[in-house]
Amino acid sequence: MTQKNSRAGLVFHGFRSFFRMPEGWHAICIYPGQLTPDEKSPRAGATDGVIDSYGGIMLEVKDIKKSFGDIEAVRGISFKVEKGDVLGFLGPNGAGKSTTMRMITGFLIPTAGTASVLGHDILDQPLEAKRQIGYLPENAPVYADMTVTGFLVFVAGMRGYSGKEKTDRVNAAVERCNLGRVRHQTIGTLSKGFRQRVCFAQAVLHDPPVLIMDEPTDGLDPNQKFAVRSMIREMAAGKAIVISTHILEEVEAVCTKAVIIGDGRILACGTPAELKARSPSGRLDEVFRTLTSGQNAA
Ligand SMILES: Nc1ncnc2c1ncn2[C@@H]1O[C@H](COP(=O)(O)OP(=O)(O)OP(=O)(O)O)[C@@H](O)[C@H]1O
Ligand SMILES: [Mg+2]
Repeated sequence: MTQKNSRAGLVFHGFRSFFRMPEGWHAICIYPGQLTPDEKSPRAGATDGVIDSYGGIMLEVKDIKKSFGDIEAVRGISFKVEKGDVLGFLGPNGAGKSTTMRMITGFLIPTAGTASVLGHDILDQPLEAKRQIGYLPENAPVYADMTVTGFLVFVAGMRGYSGKEKTDRVNAAVERCNLGRVRHQTIGTLSKGFRQRVCFAQAVLHDPPVLIMDEPTDGLDPNQKFAVRSMIREMAAGKAIVISTHILEEVEAVCTKAVIIGDGRILACGTPAELKARSPSGRLDEVFRTLTSGQNAA
């Protein structure tokens, strides 16, 4: 299915929509799934009673690899995220964090390995897996010529909501992300931090059980950083969350576990306290530096 929407400059390829931004082509995670009339809100945090059959593991990444020609961006990464966990995904620039997240969320096909989301394999059951995921991509790719509300209504529609439920979902996301003041403004005229908030709003709109967030506080002012971290902590109890970040205080502030990667491989993992204990100073930045110094891919 390929359709053009000249108003927003969209091209739909199956259930993935691509759009042009000044810096190139981006994709945003909008997967309506194939909802039948009987499937009432299958996307909204439906983990209770389901989760137990997966032993509490909501996201499992299994020896996932990705090569781009000669570049081995991800060389075999595995981890598990349980309900209630906020996993910090750390690594220097070019370590493979975004590439791993893009594979988990279905934007890139792994060269090898796979992942499963609430037991749904991302390769064998992509729609079921994607319904359970909220994804905040790097650099907040959002449609510049839509208003904030228009964009969120569009996303809610793609997620399968209609009528009052759609309106309620959009209003809740606007409120949760503090977007009321700009809700009728065109996204292209927003500041970077507000665009980030809009992207955050689309990621949480369907209250997904698994949240993948690539640098969620990038570009936010200190108050909004604090607000987003509080929101992540509040949401964590019923979800499995993965965040990538370069802000090591953020790991201590919100993460229950962390994985440090470098050059496409896992270098260390553990609770923030366990990782800090690896350095005589007990500082996470020192542990990070020791493990990753000299690793700076293109
Ligand atoms: N589409 C692509 N084509 C070729 N190489 C790519 C592509 N996407 C990523 N890479 C390469 O894969 C490696 C990992 O990139 P990735 O974006 O995953 O890093 P990252 O850990 O997210 O870095 P950052 O902290 O800068 O966001 C880099 O060497 C990058 O240049
Ligand atoms: Mg990245």
